[in-house]
Amino acid sequence: MALVTSQDMFAKALNSDYAVGAFNVNNMEIIQGIMDAAKEENAPLILQVSAGARKYAKPIYLLKLVEAAIEDTGLDVALHLDHGEDFEICKSCVDGGFTSVMIDGSKHPFEENIALTKQVVEYAHDHGVVVEAELGKLAGVEDDVKVDARSATFTDPQEAAEFVERTGVDSLAIAIGTSHGAYKFKGDPYLDFERLKEIHSLIPNTPLVLHGASTVLPEFVDRCNQFGGEIPGAQGVPEDMIRESTKWGICKVNIDTDLRLAMTAEIRRVLVESPAEFDPRKYLGPARDAITRMVQHKIKNVLNASDKR
Ligand code: G3H
Ligand code: 13P
Ligand code: ZN
Repeated sequence: MALVTSQDMFAKALNSDYAVGAFNVNNMEIIQGIMDAAKEENAPLILQVSAGARKYAKPIYLLKLVEAAIEDTGLDVALHLDHGEDFEICKSCVDGGFTSVMIDGSKHPFEENIALTKQVVEYAHDHGVVVEAELGKLAGVEDDVKVDARSATFTDPQEAAEFVERTGVDSLAIAIGTSHGAYKFKGDPYLDFERLKEIHSLIPNTPLVLHGASTVLPEFVDRCNQFGGEIPGAQGVPEDMIRESTKWGICKVNIDTDLRLAMTAEIRRVLVESPAEFDPRKYLGPARDAITRMVQHKIKNVLNASDKR
């Protein structure tokens, strides 16, 4: 049991039909809820921390909580920086005990993205840390943007091959139609599987990463709505599309929104049903259990990662 890199996890997942879940963590209950699910399912696991999470909880708290969770459960876990935007934050995480960092240079022109990614790869590899980069832009749902216009921002397969070759990056996040948050599609969900297959055929040894992969389960949206929230029009990636993507090089599937929904739905339920309650353990405990149930469902039914540890 230790903090490990994702290297072995990805090597096993690469030519198979499952992916490793990468779940965003912000506090103790989220970490415990996810760890319990991974232990129950005997599944490989990546816990990831955004810049916002570092600011909210302070990096040292998250590191120590993850170390405690590893000691408590006996699981190996990769601790990953999600969407690092510059060299400094990646260096800080490498120096601070993370085993994996993402440098997200996707907003920069191709050559700048390459230069920035190379700089991070060099530093991280010198310290035994692996690196994820991103090429292409995750599309947001915008009113008049049609599929053709959205796909102009998707990852170009030839560029992906050149990018991996020139940067030496360990894994690559690609854009094929997913987006962050609870509103991913207007109308029918669409992912560009032909593009994914082409990317995978050009760089078959590179683990690919699917961001924005929450499925936004109606059960949780309904419960949020039922207990006083309004999340109209929420739509996630269909579960079968995530499963399909794992056959074409997707080794890491990022999930944050679904955790937020599961947790918030349960806290709302408790506080609506027991309005006089003010002991945080009485709503955070059930919220933690809701996260465990949701993550177990993902591991088993969406990622196909049970018993793949
Ligand atoms: O991709 C972004 C993750 O959902 C993290 O979100 O920056 O609000 O922590 P955050
Ligand atoms: P979701 O918003 O779909 O959960 O995506 C999270 C993510 O990609 C984190 O990097
Ligand atoms: Zn992301």
